[in-house]
Amino acid sequence: MFTFVILVVSACTLVRARPSLNYLEEPYANESPHTGTEEVRLSAIKRLLAVFGMDDPPSAVGHRRKQPPQYMLDLYNTVADVDGVTKDPYLLEGNTVRSFFDKLRSEQVEFRFNLSTVAQTEKILTAELHLFKLRPQPTLPFSRHHFCQVSVYQLLDSTKSNSTQEKKLLSSRLIPVHSNGWEVFTVTQAVRSWTADEGSNLGLHVVVRALGGGQMDLKMIRFASGRSHHPSKQPMLVLFTDDGRRRSATIEGIDPEDSHVTATLPQSGPAAAAPALPSRNARSVAKATISAEDDEGAASKPCQRLPLYVDFEEIGWSGWIVSPRGYNAYHCKGSCPFPLGQNMRPTNHATVQSIINALKLIKSIETPCCVPDKLYSINLLYFDDDENVVLKQYNDMVAGSCGCH
Ligand SMILES: *[C@@H]1O[C@H](CO)[C@@H](O)[C@H](O)[C@H]1NC(C)=O
Ligand SMILES: *[C@@H]1O[C@H](CO)[C@@H](O)[C@H](O)[C@H]1NC(C)=O
Repeated sequence: MFTFVILVVSACTLVRARPSLNYLEEPYANESPHTGTEEVRLSAIKRLLAVFGMDDPPSAVGHRRKQPPQYMLDLYNTVADVDGVTKDPYLLEGNTVRSFFDKLRSEQVEFRFNLSTVAQTEKILTAELHLFKLRPQPTLPFSRHHFCQVSVYQLLDSTKSNSTQEKKLLSSRLIPVHSNGWEVFTVTQAVRSWTADEGSNLGLHVVVRALGGGQMDLKMIRFASGRSHHPSKQPMLVLFTDDGRRRSATIEGIDPEDSHVTATLPQSGPAAAAPALPSRNARSVAKATISAEDDEGAASKPCQRLPLYVDFEEIGWSGWIVSPRGYNAYHCKGSCPFPLGQNMRPTNHATVQSIINALKLIKSIETPCCVPDKLYSINLLYFDDDENVVLKQYNDMVAGSCGCH
């Protein structure tokens, strides 16, 4: 598997490869790949982990594997297709979604979440408390109330600040008494303060009041707790964050204006490169070289996109990755002979280089390289070190198309 990945990142692709792919390339530039296969394998896997923004694979998973929250599975299926490729790049504001289960497991509608896996550099965009509201117990007499006021408070340490306040209101709204299902409350402020100061995380408290302001019978309004209800209804904190990795969907270094210029040039068929040629003389020389190049071209297929399946099970990551099982990264292979037609998606630079090569004006100028010119992001749904389920988006992972550059 790894030799496959490494072969694909060939010398030619290095010219325009993203820095992240260089993680795979580097170790082989300096040392022979024959010095200890296991060493190479470990080093390669380490570098692949770095591409996924991790130092080590998440541990303590596998033996205690749980069912991922349905919310995270649904979110993944909304954002990604079966191969993990992003369907809609504008759906998520950031590139990371983290889910946490309540650690307190109290019956007192109090919740605490351990956010130690959130990186210091991660920007909290939105945080949501997801509570599953159960139906009122059927044995209770029918209530005259139709709605109740549900408020979520952040618990404060009143000994640390001068305020006598013990809790701070984060979110409040009316909920039908007889409904059941998920209720979502925004708690972004609290989570931002917790990530700034871990010690301040005393948890959340939920208060239910009747419309008049009085206390409500808690048997009437019940939320599922982690202790006594089905795991699929556990209270959950969902964080939408951004870890600061670059988000653009196009390959680095290609100015969108460049491709615009290329697209508007009257390039079609074998005469594609002609407008760039300076003189009639040069043009006839170029024509003479075409036939020779054509003979060579028959041996090597023109630049095209070919499959390259990255199988997470083969890499040994299927224990912590929920989805996808693998993905097709594709690779670009083939020759870029003169003249470069529009179907080769050449840059102006590649067009000129191929002409210089064809004219043999300067020695040792190769034909342009067949490389990815459009890249797509993929999504990974996985268990982190603390067995929380995380969805992360990674840019530039799938070659969408290939071109001569
Ligand atoms: C949070 O989880 C981490 C790692 O699992 C653990 O080291 C830490 O003690 C936990 N913090 C609290 C407050 O429970
Ligand atoms: C508490 O209030 C006193 C005086 O009002 C002030 O000097 C002190 O700095 C305050 N402490 C904190 C932690 O805000």
